[in-house]
Amino acid sequence: MSRLHGKVAIVTGGGGGIGSAISARFAAEGARVVVADVDGDRAKAVAAELGAAVAPVVLDVTSAPSWEHAVDATVEAFGGLHVLVNNAGYFRPAPLESATEDDLRRSFEVNQLGPFLGIKAALGRMPEGGSIVNVSSGAGMYGTPGLAVYASTKFAVRGLTRCAAMELGARGIRVNSVHPGGIDTPMVNRGPESAAAYRALPVPRIGSPEEVAAMVAFLASDESSYCTGAEFVVDGGMGAGPMLAATGTAGRR
Ligand SMILES: NC(=O)c1ccc[n+]([C@@H]2O[C@H](COP(=O)([O-])OP(=O)(O)OC[C@H]3O[C@@H](n4cnc5c(N)ncnc54)[C@H](O)[C@@H]3O)[C@@H](O)[C@H]2O)c1
Repeated sequence: MSRLHGKVAIVTGGGGGIGSAISARFAAEGARVVVADVDGDRAKAVAAELGAAVAPVVLDVTSAPSWEHAVDATVEAFGGLHVLVNNAGYFRPAPLESATEDDLRRSFEVNQLGPFLGIKAALGRMPEGGSIVNVSSGAGMYGTPGLAVYASTKFAVRGLTRCAAMELGARGIRVNSVHPGGIDTPMVNRGPESAAAYRALPVPRIGSPEEVAAMVAFLASDESSYCTGAEFVVDGGMGAGPMLAATGTAGRR
């Protein structure tokens, strides 16, 4: 399929597990992609693997000047910007007793300030028909013990998404959020215990980054032209009912 032919996309956290899968899916769908990550080596490695339609850029999503540079570099390299995927994330699970103020500040900086700055930086360059996808989390949909800090930031992403959708509709730009459940990414330690917990889900296993990428590609494409301000869950049914409790805290982000 070439649903993204002619589109240029920025994928933040593009060097990570879900971000690299989104970048690969976008490239396969015909997009030109900027893999934007604070870890330049990872961004370079992902871009090198995906070919000439994919370029790396070093981006710290918490910095407005860094965003300006990334957006300028994207327009310079590929001539425009049609899709922004705010996917970079920071995850430090901790019970309230040991969670720190620094954890909260850092989590908000990456998970909430990042998408906010990204939307502001992209706006001036994004034409009618543009699409912004914010990667929140299942933890942004329901309460989870041990995730007060992380979940607060991911709930906040929903508010940003809805308000942005209301504001940017007049410009023909759509804004949606995606809510992955437990996804098997390299940086998350999924022990056998955690894998066993996922067997209680309606889809009885952990998810793959490619399954999240498929949803993000739909939202980036014109196929989702009537979808905006909405929340799209990719969680194997984790949030559908009381099975949520069976999966525990450690295996979820
Ligand atoms: N893996 C899961 O189970 C899961 C579940 C729900 C939501 N999510 C969300 O999906 C997104 C991707 O998660 P992942 O599992 O691929 O994580 P990951 O750790 O594999 O990748 C995250 C990437 O973000 C980059 N990053 C971190 N801080 C950054 C910054 N300041 N600026 C730019 N890049 C930065 C990292 O370098 C890394 O490449 C995150 O927003 C995460 O919260 C993940």
